[in-house]
Amino acid sequence: MSEKENGKQAAGYDAWLGTLEGTGKGTIEGAGAWFGTVIVNEQHEVIESARAEWCKAAEELYGIQPSVSQTAGEGASGLLLGTFGSSALLDEALGPDASSAVTGPEGFLIRADRERRRIAVGAKTPAGVLYGVFHLLRLLRTGAVPEELNAVENPVNGLRMINQWDNMDGSIERGYAGKSIFYENNRITENLDRIRDYARLLASTGINAIAINNVNVHRYETMLLTKEYLPDVAKIAAVFRAYAIKLFLSINYASPLEIGGLSTADPLDPNVRAWWKSTAADVYAAIPDFGGFLVKADSENRPGPFTYGRDHADGSNMLAEALQPYGGLVIWRCFVYNCKQDWRDRQTDRARAAYDHFMPLDGRFLDNVILQIKNGPMDFQVREPVSPLFGGLEATNQVIEFQITQEYTGQQRHLCYLVPQWKEVLDFDTYAKGEGSPVKRIVDGSMFGSRHSGFAAVSNIGDDTNWTGHLLAQANLYGFGRLAWNPELSAEEISREWIRQTFGAEEQVVRTVMGMLMDSWSIYESYTAPLGVGWMVNPDHHYGPNVDGYEYSKWGTYHFADCHGIGVDRTVATGTGYTAQYKGRNAEVYESPADCPDELLLFFHHVPYTHRLHSGKTVIQHIYNTHFEGVERADGLKEAWAGLAGSLPDELHGQVAERLAHQAVHAREWRDIINTYFYRKSGIADEQGRTIY
Ligand code: GCU
Repeated sequence: MSEKENGKQAAGYDAWLGTLEGTGKGTIEGAGAWFGTVIVNEQHEVIESARAEWCKAAEELYGIQPSVSQTAGEGASGLLLGTFGSSALLDEALGPDASSAVTGPEGFLIRADRERRRIAVGAKTPAGVLYGVFHLLRLLRTGAVPEELNAVENPVNGLRMINQWDNMDGSIERGYAGKSIFYENNRITENLDRIRDYARLLASTGINAIAINNVNVHRYETMLLTKEYLPDVAKIAAVFRAYAIKLFLSINYASPLEIGGLSTADPLDPNVRAWWKSTAADVYAAIPDFGGFLVKADSENRPGPFTYGRDHADGSNMLAEALQPYGGLVIWRCFVYNCKQDWRDRQTDRARAAYDHFMPLDGRFLDNVILQIKNGPMDFQVREPVSPLFGGLEATNQVIEFQITQEYTGQQRHLCYLVPQWKEVLDFDTYAKGEGSPVKRIVDGSMFGSRHSGFAAVSNIGDDTNWTGHLLAQANLYGFGRLAWNPELSAEEISREWIRQTFGAEEQVVRTVMGMLMDSWSIYESYTAPLGVGWMVNPDHHYGPNVDGYEYSKWGTYHFADCHGIGVDRTVATGTGYTAQYKGRNAEVYESPADCPDELLLFFHHVPYTHRLHSGKTVIQHIYNTHFEGVERADGLKEAWAGLAGSLPDELHGQVAERLAHQAVHAREWRDIINTYFYRKSGIADEQGRTIY
C-alpha cells in the first residue's frame, strides 16, 4: 500500500468497510478453509461487485486471497454466491425453503454448512446477492463465527434513497465535509474512483437510489438533461449500477423555458408535454435504467406549476406521463410554503403549509408519482412534531425525507447522532387507522397498500478524506441506510454495528462511543433552542446562536418571545389552527397546553415564562437548567473521548478530539446567549444564582 493510501486509511477513508486493528484479522479458526475459494458461475456486474467486495475484505480481514471458480464438487468448501437456480450446488446449500424465505427481489439468505466449511449466499436477484455479501461481511466484522451464520433478510422499504445537494461548481448546499465528489468547475468529475467508493459505502448499508444534484437546480445543473452532459451523467450511472443503485436527477421545472426554447413551462401546454417526452427519451437512450426526476417546485423561489395557475398534481403528473413508458418515477417534494411572509402576521403559519397544499390533492397523483415529505412540518430542526401529512394522505405514494447533513444540528462540528430522532419519528403513532398506525407503516407502504414508498435523506458527505468531516458523523450515514432497510433496528444496535466495524471490538471503546452517540442528540437539544421552538440560529448559514436571527424575517420561523412569555400558538382555539391537521388523540394532546409533551410545548403554545412543565420546572427555569447542564454534558463528551486516547489510532482520535473541543466552547456561546436573552426579556433570575450576563 502506498503512503498516500495508508494516510487515507488512517484518516477514516474506509469508514465502516475498513480493517482497523482489532476488527478481527486472522482471528477465525480455519479461515483459509472457509474463505479460500469463491464459487460463482454467473456473469453479472452486480454479482461481480459482490465477489470483488468479498475478495477485498477476505484479504484485508484474514490475509487470504480467495481463488475464484465457476464450479465445484459436492463436498467443496468456500463461499458460494449467486441467484437461486444459478447452480445446483448453491440451491442445495441454501436448502429447499430458500425462495419462500426471500420474499422480495432484494432479500437474501445466508447459510453455513459446518461440516463442509461452506457458506452460501443466495437471492432472487444480483442486488440481493450483493446485499447478502455485505451483510455477511457485517456479521463477520462484528464478531460472528462462520459455523453459526444463518440469516434471512428482506428490506422493509422499497425505495432507500440518498439526495445529494451538490452543485456543479463543486459546492454543496448545506455540505459540511468539503467539496463535491461529483463535480468541479461546472463539469462532472473524471475521478470516478471516489464515486465508486461512495457507491460501495452506500450499497453496504442497503441504499438503492441516488439523486446526484441539488434540489435547487441552477443554470448548469439544468443542462444535465441535455445531450452535452448526458454522456457524463451516464458514466456516473454506470458506477452506481454496478452496486445496484439507480441514478436520479433533480430537475428544474422551468427547463422547457431555460433549455427547451419554449415560451412557457405550463404543464397543460401540449408543447411543454411534448418537450418533456422527448427529453425523457433522450435520458433513457443514454441511461436505460434511469430512476427518474426529483423535483422541488414552487418552493423557495424555484419555479413550478403555480406560475400557470396549475396545481402540484398537474405539474407532477405531466412529468410522470413522460417517464411512464420507461418505468421512471417522479419524486415530488412537499416542502412548499410562503417564504415571503410578513412577520407581523400571526395567522399565516409555515407549519401548516405542506398539508394545506397537498391534502386536497390526495388521490390525484399518477401511479409513478411519489410525494417526498420532510419528517417535520418546518425544516429539520433538532425537535419538531411529525409532519401531519403522514397519516393525512391515504391515496398517495409517499417517502419520508430526513436530513443526514447536520444543517440545524451542529453542522458536523457538534456531535449529533440522529438515528434516535429518526426512530422517534418512525414510531410516532399517526392514528391514521386508529391506534397503532405508526409512520413507519405508512412509509413502508403497508398501511395504505402504496405502490411506491420508502426513505430519502440528504447526504452528509463531501471530499474530506473521512467523508463526513466529523468522523462520528459517519454513523448517521450508516444508520440511515440501515434504518431504511429495517426500521425495527434500534438506535443502539445500529451504533454498536457501526462502532465495531469502524473502531473494533474493544469493550471500553464500544461502550464509550455508544454512550456518546446515544446522548448526543439530547445534549445538542439541551443547549440550543428550547422546548421545540426551533431556529434561533444565525441567518443564511444557520450555524451558532442568534435568538432573533429569524424573528423579524420573511421566512415564517418565529418564537414571539416578549417580556411575558414565548412560543407559537398553533391551537384551533386561539392560534393558527395547525393542531387540527393531526388525527385522533394527537390533535387533542397538542391542542392542550396541559397535555402537550414538554419537548414540543413552545412549538404549539405561547405560554408565560412561569408556566409549569410536566417536569415540575417553570419554562424559564427549564431554559436555564438545560443550558447549564448542556454545557456540562458537552464537556463530558470531550472527557469521555479523551479517555480513549491510546485505544484508537492517534489520527482518528485527534480528529474527533478537535471537534469535541470546539463543541464544548461553542456550547458555552449557546448557553450564555440563550440564557442572557431570556433573563433580560423576563427579568426572572435563575433559582440557583448561576452566572447569566
Ligand atoms: C432548507 C435549506 C435549504 C434547502 C431547503 C430544501 O431550507 O436551508 O438550503 O434548499 O431546505 O429542503 O429545499
